Amino acid sequence: MLTKNRIKSVQHESNVCADIEGFDFNSYSSDDIAIVRQLWLQHGVIRFRDANISDAQQVDFSRHFGEFVIHPKQLQEGGHPTHPEILVISNAMKGGKPSGAMGNSEATWHTDTWFYERPPAGAILRAVQVPASGGDTYFLSTYRAYDTLPGHLRESVTGRQIFFQNVYDKTGKLRLGKAEPKSEDFREWQGIVHPLVRTHGETGRKALYLGGTSEGAWIVGMPLDESDDLLAQLWKHTTGTHEVFVQKWDAGDIMMWDNRCTMHRRDSFDPNSIRIMHRTTTAGERPV
Ligand code: SIN
Repeated sequence: MLTKNRIKSVQHESNVCADIEGFDFNSYSSDDIAIVRQLWLQHGVIRFRDANISDAQQVDFSRHFGEFVIHPKQLQEGGHPTHPEILVISNAMKGGKPSGAMGNSEATWHTDTWFYERPPAGAILRAVQVPASGGDTYFLSTYRAYDTLPGHLRESVTGRQIFFQNVYDKTGKLRLGKAEPKSEDFREWQGIVHPLVRTHGETGRKALYLGGTSEGAWIVGMPLDESDDLLAQLWKHTTGTHEVFVQKWDAGDIMMWDNRCTMHRRDSFDPNSIRIMHRTTTAGERPV
């Protein structure tokens, strides 16, 4: 599709990502930002190849898409030395300590900080240094996941809410500021309840909302074994799709995703190579 001015988007076959061409990070107008915003809402994920911008330019650009959200990892190993808005994702060691979050590990399918009351609306991820292979990032559409649900699953999710415990992270580590729970039943732990099908605040489209893991998740009011079974089917349906966009990074690339209607994951990579990414995150609404 060609837009009215020089900014052009080229959609990928996966239906979840488009390349944006012709956007000048050194000089852009509010109309240019409005076009990018419209393309981001339309495609769910957009990519700027070879953008090669600075940290300050990334922060300035991100500011147009909402208030910044401080990711919990920014308060731990992922803080940026001079730009508090940036989360550093890196396996490089500095002074005997990791210089960023996540190391070289795999990240399984998730939507960002699903365990918050108001998960972020967007993320902008820029490759600073990448390995020759590995560390690819994958994206899928949760609109598609909802739209293609078979009838019986659509019926099972309609009007349902999902509880996510937010005491432990996916690796079993206590989250920042949380204490060991007393009960053995995670449904009695601290957590957050979101609709299992959320309606996007800007597009009005419905998307399946599975968060980041079926462990420690419960479809409210459903016997636990039934909830586990339904969640397993929903995860299989959502992540088993071929409609996945795979980003093979070059340094300078930027991916920008809408966290309200997509999920992503990343591959691990050789720990002897270096991968450094800088990410900004913008605020979202409480899912409804
Ligand atoms: C993330 O989950 O935000 C990290 C993605 C990546 O490092 O590619």
